[in-house]
Amino acid sequence: MKIGIIGGTGPAGKGLALRLSSVGYEVEIGSRSSGRAAEVVEDTLEPWRDCNYKLSGVSNEEAARAGTVVLATPWDSCAPTAKAFRELLKGKLVICMANALARVGNEFHALYPPRGSIAADVQAAIPLSRVSMAFQHLPAKELGEIEHNMEGDVLVCADEQDSIAETIEIVEKMPNLRGLDCGSLANAAPVEAFTAVLLQLNRLYKTRSSVRITGLE
Ligand SMILES: NC(=O)c1ccc[n+]([C@@H]2O[C@H](COP(=O)([O-])OP(=O)(O)OC[C@H]3O[C@@H](n4cnc5c(N)ncnc54)[C@H](OP(=O)(O)O)[C@@H]3O)[C@@H](O)[C@H]2O)c1
Repeated sequence: MKIGIIGGTGPAGKGLALRLSSVGYEVEIGSRSSGRAAEVVEDTLEPWRDCNYKLSGVSNEEAARAGTVVLATPWDSCAPTAKAFRELLKGKLVICMANALARVGNEFHALYPPRGSIAADVQAAIPLSRVSMAFQHLPAKELGEIEHNMEGDVLVCADEQDSIAETIEIVEKMPNLRGLDCGSLANAAPVEAFTAVLLQLNRLYKTRSSVRITGLE
């Protein structure tokens, strides 16, 4: 399956792209500039030359043609960017990994968009696509360090059960990551917002935290 990552040239998108390609997916890193995407792929693959990962750099439009698409732009451009490609995204699973955060002094604070979450805003912008929310709590740097397995739970929300199941399938291709069905996009707001808490923990405890839910089989 081919996965296109719109806005994939940032730390989060390229980290996810490398990790997904390392577990066998064909991945396209998208950018507003295909030249920039190609450069980012060149740099990202440099240490992994011999591995034959299927990772390429393309325009965002090309990335939107993939079978499954991840939105990895900054939060305030997710809905407008998705809307610009709405025809290409029709009927597809579109995974939104954005967090809406603002820096206030030493802290990051959660922002609440009109529908409560970025993922719900994106779903409203592309009603004929199947939007899910995932990957908010995985630190970009660790995503890109594929020599180590990541630990943690990836909380997944979507309005359709199939979208949740397909997103969890992608999550669980990556060793040691567990995808959890957290319900509809109505629950995306607290998941996205909780990232502000993790960033605060990272700052205070000088670490890179992620989420693990206890009490589940
Ligand atoms: N950083 C993390 O640890 C982390 C972890 C989990 C989730 N997230 C979320 O994942 C998303 C990406 O994070 P990031 O740190 O990689 O972000 P980023 O570096 O700020 O942005 C990612 C890419 O988005 C594109 N972009 C920037 N402004 C844009 C605009 N106005 N319209 C369209 N595209 C634009 C840029 O690519 P081009 O210039 O090449 O087009 C940029 O390289 C964010 O929403 C973030 O909240 C981040």
